[in-house]
Amino acid sequence: MDDTSLANDTDNDDVTPEERLRAAQTIAYPSPAARPRKNQVDCPPFVVVLFGATGDLARRKLLCGLAYLAVSNLTSGMRIIGTSLDDLTDDQFRAFARESIESVGARKLTDAQWAEFAPLLSYVAQSAGPAALAARVAKEEKELGPGVQRLYYLSVPPKAASAVITLLKEAKLIDRSRVIMEKPFGQDLESAIALNAELHQTFKERQIFRIDHFLGKEAAQNILAFRFANGLFEPIWSRNFIDHVQIDIPESLGLDARAAFYEPTGAYKDMVVTHLFQVMAFVAMEPPTALEPRAISEEKNKVFRSLEPIQPEDVVRGQYIGYRDEHGVNPESDTETFIALRARIDNWRWAGVPFYLRTGKKLAEGQRIISIAFKEAPKSMFPANSGIGAQGPDHLTFDLADESKVSLSFYGKRPGPGMRLDKLSMQFSTEETSRAGDVLEAYERLILDALHGDHTLFTTADGIESLWERSIPLLDNPPPVKSYPAGSWGPNSIHQLIAPHAWRLPFERVWRGKKPT
Ligand code: BG6
Repeated sequence: MDDTSLANDTDNDDVTPEERLRAAQTIAYPSPAARPRKNQVDCPPFVVVLFGATGDLARRKLLCGLAYLAVSNLTSGMRIIGTSLDDLTDDQFRAFARESIESVGARKLTDAQWAEFAPLLSYVAQSAGPAALAARVAKEEKELGPGVQRLYYLSVPPKAASAVITLLKEAKLIDRSRVIMEKPFGQDLESAIALNAELHQTFKERQIFRIDHFLGKEAAQNILAFRFANGLFEPIWSRNFIDHVQIDIPESLGLDARAAFYEPTGAYKDMVVTHLFQVMAFVAMEPPTALEPRAISEEKNKVFRSLEPIQPEDVVRGQYIGYRDEHGVNPESDTETFIALRARIDNWRWAGVPFYLRTGKKLAEGQRIISIAFKEAPKSMFPANSGIGAQGPDHLTFDLADESKVSLSFYGKRPGPGMRLDKLSMQFSTEETSRAGDVLEAYERLILDALHGDHTLFTTADGIESLWERSIPLLDNPPPVKSYPAGSWGPNSIHQLIAPHAWRLPFERVWRGKKPT
C-alpha cells in the first residue's frame, strides 16, 4: 500500500479508533471560493473509475458532480475512467459527458473549465476485460504521480454489482481503493446479506461506502444541526409534544429511460428502504455521542431496530395510469410507481407517533419535505369562531431541496379587533445567506467524503439488513397496486391511511421566495 498520509485516511490498518475519531472531527472543508488553488488540499490524487458511466445517474448527476470536484479547489489531481457495456472511444465519452453536463447538469462548465476537465476523462468498455482496465488505471496513475488512490463508483443495478467486483479482482485493482455502492443495496434481506458477504471477500468494510444521496443533501444534515445544536427543539422532540411526522417526497418526473431498473425495483425499494427511511432515522435518532461514523450509525441503527415490521395493511401501493404502456414495462406489471405507508417506531421517544411516508412518480408536484406536526393546544380559552386549530396543527417543516429551507408555522393573532387566529410562519432559506454558493450538490458532497475516507454520511451493512428484515411482511404479501392518474397525488386511499390527519402537501401557502437583494 502506498504511504499516503491523509488526516482522515481510514485505509490504514494501524490507525486506532481514537485517532480515527480525532481525524474525523478535524475535517473542515473550506468554502470552494476561498480555497487556495490545487495541490494545496489534504486530499490525495485519485483515479476514479465510474461503472455505469453512460447510465441515467451518471448522465444526470455523477459526471456533473465529478466535473465540479475536478475543476474546483476541493481535490488535488483526479482522473476519471468511464466504463459501461457500451463501446465508446475516449472522445465519444467526452462528448457524452459534455452533452450530459450541458443539458441536465445542475452546474454548467465554462469553456475554460471544460478544457481543463475534458483531458481528465477517458473510457474503457467493460467488454475490453480486466487487463485493459488495469492498463488504463496504471497509465493514469503514472501521470498523477505518487500517492494515488483509487475510487470505484458502482452506478450499476444490484444484479450487475457482482460482475464488477469480479472484474476489479481479476484486474488486481483492490489495493489502495475505495468503492461506492449505489442503492438499492440488495433486493431483500437474503440478497443484501449475500452482497455484503461477497463484498467482504474482496474489500474491507472501511473501503466500502454505501451511498444514499439523500444523506448528502445539505438540508438532511441541517436536521442534525437543527436538532442537536440548539436548546430549543430537542426537549420537545418526542411523543409528549409531537403528534405525527410526514416524510413526503412526491416526484413529478416519470420513468425516463429507466424501465430496466425500475420494473424489478419499484418505489418501495427505490426510495423508501433507501432514502425515506434514512431521512427518518435523522429525524428520530437519539443524540449521537459525536459527529463520527460509528456514533451516528449506532443511533440510526437503533431507530431501524425499533421500527415495527411494515405491515401490508399500513401500505398503499399505486401505479400511474399509462405505466404499463411505457417502453420496457411488462403490460401486466405489478410494480408500484407510488407508495404511501404508516411506520411506527416502538421506543420510549416515539411509541404512538405515526410516521407517514409517501413517494411516487408522475405526481402533481416535485417536493421533498419533512413535516413535524405538534400536538394541538387546548382550544377552550379562545372564542368559538376564533379559527384556532382550523388550519391543522402547528408544524415544523424541512424542505430537502438543494436550497434547504425550514419553516415553523404557528397560530398568531390576525391584526384588528377581537381575537381571530391565522396560521403564520417563520421561514429560513439557505438561499438568503451569504454562503448559499458554497452548497455542494448531494453527490458532490458524498464523493468528496469518500475521497477523504469519511463514512459519517454513508449507510452500514447492519442498518440496511435491519431495514430489509423489517420489510419482510410487505415484500412477502404486497397489497395490490391501485391505479392513479398522472398529475394527481396518488390513489384516493392515501387519505384513509393518514386519517384523522391530512397530508401537508399540497401546501396551503407556498414557500416564500428569495428576498430581493
Ligand atoms: C434516486 C431514485 O435515488 O432518487 C430516483 O432512484 C429518484 O427514482 C431520485 O428520482 C430522487 O432524488 P433527487 O435528489 O433528485 O430528489
